[in-house]
Amino acid sequence: AEDVDKLYDWSNRMIGWDDPEYGSTQADGELAAAEIFLYANEIAARRRAEPRDDIVSALVRPDEHGDTLTEMEFCMFFVLLVIAGNETTRNAITGGMQAFMDHPDQWRRLQHDPGLVPSAVEEILRWVSPVIGFRRTPTCPATIGEQSVDRGDKVVLYYPAANRDGDVFEEPHRFDIGREHNPHVAFGGTGVHFCLGAHLARLELKVMFETLARRLDRVEPAGPARRLRSNFVNGVKAMPVRIHPRQD
Ligand code: HEM
Repeated sequence: AEDVDKLYDWSNRMIGWDDPEYGSTQADGELAAAEIFLYANEIAARRRAEPRDDIVSALVRPDEHGDTLTEMEFCMFFVLLVIAGNETTRNAITGGMQAFMDHPDQWRRLQHDPGLVPSAVEEILRWVSPVIGFRRTPTCPATIGEQSVDRGDKVVLYYPAANRDGDVFEEPHRFDIGREHNPHVAFGGTGVHFCLGAHLARLELKVMFETLARRLDRVEPAGPARRLRSNFVNGVKAMPVRIHPRQD
């Protein structure tokens, strides 16, 4: 917990290097990754010496066959966790709040019927799509829609586009917190790479919006939001708001 500001800064630099406001470069983003590597190594050494009941201790412990992650594997996994568990949920929360400010009727609906929180969370995930895309490399020729792709091609999956597919979602451009059929792909499609943190992310969003809907009468914009320039994370850098707490 005492290093949270450091992790926040590294994460911003790794994801935000392409945004001119930060005046950084790809090299600076890579430097941030290197700093996270050093930090990860330090923590790993500390947990090897003194294991605790935490995720780093679990990752550095040999498995039942005595196998351990290599230093590189551990560092890559650590970076993945820091970025994946941080940039996504905070932008889902901000983007969700923005959607409610744009659709005050849906905010009132949530307040009157807190039982809608689970479907509201799914709709926020679909609507915001915090991760813009990942890339895949086909291992055999395939047809996607009407497009043929070859083995070795580079194929980018755009989650926000899939989450507005009119063949899958009824009125895809409507923010509807009671949406019943919502097979969004904000956490990726099915398969081995499906988001590892999906349950935690859903829980964070549930607790956050349950609490906000209970404690606040409403939230209003107090100026334009500043979006992150990134082709990877659908981020909001700042979103000034005016909060009206509940009087009752
Ligand atoms: C709203 C929040 C989140 C969204 C939208 C999100 C989205 C995604 C997406 C789209 C993928 C790629 C799936 C694929 O390639 O098929 C992914 C993978 C991953 N996510 Fe999340 N994520 C979120 C929260 C989290 C959290 C909280 C954690 C960890 C604490 C996390 C950890 C991971 C990891 C480790 C992977 C890589 C899994 C693998 O490649 O095997 N994510 N996530």
